[in-house]
Amino acid sequence: MWKLESTKKIPVYQQIMEQIIEYIQKGQLNPGDHLPSERKLAASYQVNRSTVVHALEELVSLGWIIRQQGSGTLVNEGRWGRSATPRMNWRQLLSRETPQTEPYLLELHEIQKDTQTLDLYTGELPLDLIPDFRLPAYTWEELLIEEKKQRDLGYPPLQRIICERLYREQGLEAATNQVLITSGAQQALFLLLQVMLEAGDSVAIEDPSFLYSLPIFDTAGVRLYGVAMDEEGMQIEALEQLILAKRVKLIIVNPTFQNPTGNTMTLKRRKQLIALSEKYQLPIVEDDVFSELNFLQLPPSLKSLAPHQVIHLGSLSKIFGSSIKIGWIVADQSLIQRLSEAKQMMDFSISVFPQVVAYTALTDQSFETNRQELIDTLKHKRDCFYSCAQSVSSDWQFEEIDGGLYVWLKWRHQKLTRKDWGLFLQEKLLVAPSFLFSNDTMAMRVNYSRMTEEECYIFFVKLQKISEIIGGRKYERDN
Ligand SMILES: Cc1ncc(COP(=O)(O)O)c(C=O)c1O
Repeated sequence: MWKLESTKKIPVYQQIMEQIIEYIQKGQLNPGDHLPSERKLAASYQVNRSTVVHALEELVSLGWIIRQQGSGTLVNEGRWGRSATPRMNWRQLLSRETPQTEPYLLELHEIQKDTQTLDLYTGELPLDLIPDFRLPAYTWEELLIEEKKQRDLGYPPLQRIICERLYREQGLEAATNQVLITSGAQQALFLLLQVMLEAGDSVAIEDPSFLYSLPIFDTAGVRLYGVAMDEEGMQIEALEQLILAKRVKLIIVNPTFQNPTGNTMTLKRRKQLIALSEKYQLPIVEDDVFSELNFLQLPPSLKSLAPHQVIHLGSLSKIFGSSIKIGWIVADQSLIQRLSEAKQMMDFSISVFPQVVAYTALTDQSFETNRQELIDTLKHKRDCFYSCAQSVSSDWQFEEIDGGLYVWLKWRHQKLTRKDWGLFLQEKLLVAPSFLFSNDTMAMRVNYSRMTEEECYIFFVKLQKISEIIGGRKYERDN
């Protein structure tokens, strides 16, 4: 009974997990049954005891088994042999002080609507670039018929078109039962957090990262640790040190046109990351919300390089704006099932309406042409940004980007303070300083897609003015 087929290409601990789950599902193990001791399991599977411990810990955190002091490891007696209780800790959440809103953002939101303001802070495409399409002309009755087609994992026609697109764009093979439709990628992250992590667990993310600003991790008591990046992406040695020091449970990366740096992880680094995650048997979440906005051929997705090791997230927000709020998770079927159960427990059902709209948008005959036009426009805007950048001083350093929405500009001189960043607000130039994504204060994210050619020129004129003042402050401080 406790033996593995040697042909499977997934990590051994996952094979052990899968086998135990299968025994529970098929009734070979029943609620309350004892599992053999770790030592016996290790001997029978012919693996290290640590591999067995890892598999059992994962099964405990997923609720399939429980470990009791003195009586060993038992199959959980909860419904279907596991507890699907979501882990939102409301008591803890409500007992905490409301985190203070970042003062910079309070001020930024105050002036955001002012027509004089140049908003390069907002992380989405401007309205005029979002591809247009006709809304579906459904009668109410027809919509109700579509609603009846909904399944636990989402609206099947939308799931199918997502699978087709993933295959076409990324060579990623996924069946519809491996795709869960969510209300945006943020909900996808929230569900993963609820199902895969516990309070006190550590997660490795890029430093800087968009996730740094999300309250969902803090609320769940999950600790985020940033791993420094270089031009190839997350640094592997630094990640390994973190894994060893903090017992990381999950790695979340945004490898393509990363938010905020715009960086794309090289193929070499992708392979190294996968090798490291296999070594420590850690799952990777690939947050892939920008890859549709690519100017050049992209390296293969992490998911296509390691289908069982990687959980893939996508979203339509970056192409159709966040009002549609449709995202998806692609993962092994057993995890998708768990996530779907957690989603239902939290009553996160998604109305069929935005799903029908998303389906219509993606199957609209002109979608591909519109997307290509959008990419051409973005390319043009990027080129305009670079050529304007040539004409001003080189106080700011930045890397070339080949897609996505962001350019990351690093200040070359002394440390910047909040007061320095306040100057941008005074000039009504809204940018996203690095302290929103990290402990760093020396860089900023600029959404170049939001500027016309003329605004791009204005941006650099204002930047030049601000840089001179900040540089002048340095002079005052140094003397
Ligand atoms: C890297 C990244 N992941 C996830 C999200 C959330 O996406 P959604 O709007 O689909 O919830 C964003 C939004 O900006 C993002 O930049």
